[in-house]
Amino acid sequence: MPPSTDLPLPSPEEAAHSARLLAALRAEIAREGPLDFARYMERVLYAPGLGYYSAGRTKFGAAGDFTTAPELGAVFARCVARALAPALGRGRTFLELGAGSGAFAAAALAEWDRLGALPDEYLVLDTSADLRERQAATLETRVPALAGRVRWLDAPPSAPWRGALFANEVVDALPVRQFCWRGADGLFERAVDATPDGGLRMVERVADAPMRAAFARAIDDPATLPVPYVSEVAPQLGAWFAAVAGALADGVALFFDYGYPRAEYYLPQRATGTVVCHYRHRAHADPLWMPGLSDVTAFVDFTALAEAGHAAGFLPACYASQAQFLFATGLSEVGDTGAIDDVAMRLALAQEIRMLTLPGEMGERFKALAFLRGFDAARLPWLAIDQGHRL
Ligand SMILES: C[S@@+](CC[C@H](N)C(=O)[O-])C[C@H]1O[C@@H](n2cnc3c(N)ncnc32)[C@H](O)[C@@H]1O
Repeated sequence: MPPSTDLPLPSPEEAAHSARLLAALRAEIAREGPLDFARYMERVLYAPGLGYYSAGRTKFGAAGDFTTAPELGAVFARCVARALAPALGRGRTFLELGAGSGAFAAAALAEWDRLGALPDEYLVLDTSADLRERQAATLETRVPALAGRVRWLDAPPSAPWRGALFANEVVDALPVRQFCWRGADGLFERAVDATPDGGLRMVERVADAPMRAAFARAIDDPATLPVPYVSEVAPQLGAWFAAVAGALADGVALFFDYGYPRAEYYLPQRATGTVVCHYRHRAHADPLWMPGLSDVTAFVDFTALAEAGHAAGFLPACYASQAQFLFATGLSEVGDTGAIDDVAMRLALAQEIRMLTLPGEMGERFKALAFLRGFDAARLPWLAIDQGHRL
């Protein structure tokens, strides 16, 4: 049964698809024992041919499961493109991680074309093979003259390169491990086990040494937490950052996602963790429901992301809310409705800006974190909005 009464019922095809992934998960559990949450998340998102990101679900837009900032219209991409333009142009490369439907790529390329800042190449690194086809189709339709600059990679660049790297809502998909702090009873790790009736359930086992170390890094004083207290840590973040950005020798890396600085992430009131699943525009909190049909994500600990970048040789240079970032990078120009005669278009643009910037929508929940390596900070005036002291 759906975890909440307002989740739509999956179609018979979806249910059959999920049943195949469930069978694969149960077979793995029978072989290996309960799967820690990171392994479970990796399988439900990326299992070849079965996972959410590898099995052809619509994902984006009205018919999909969620809407991202680039899907709302061109405003977000145009502001990001303007912000990164000083790091691009001739002899420079742009790398987008997790390019979704290709909407960001199309709008950003068009903006750089207008600004005379087109990079030589627009590289895309995406784990989802079917999304690559969709990205190519979006580019052919929206910016046919620029689509030839885009190239899809199977692995991050290994030779040194110069330019900018960008990822919107990708870090939240990196697998996280889940802990449960039980006060005097100690620290446990949550794992996914098979039930005798053919389903899955969450179990707990005593935390191992890496989990205890991650907990100690994340939580200053466990005595301040309610018991039980469930939350997440992202053990793969450092290695992932180094892998995707390690060869960027001169440029900017910019990440957007929902999340908090560490001091706000592990607050007592967030006692059930930050995992959020999306199914047909409904957010729900049960990652075990119909595996493979929901996007499973966790909020990003931006302090951990800053540490990961720093360890990979980057300077964290600007942390800001999405709203602050957009206001500092051209929103008033890009979002100027005054020049638009068509009333419907004017209203649509105003609504897009509200969604992107209002605190109750994406404006505050989403954050931007920019890193520099070998690049002169003075060339990016918007770095002045940095709230890095909050990290
Ligand atoms: C929530 S979507 C965001 C898509 C797009 N950036 C947007 O804003 O619309 C996540 C995207 O990241 C991709 N993805 C997930 N995990 C990834 C990873 N580890 N490396 C690269 N891409 C990944 C997915 O295939 C998908 O394109």
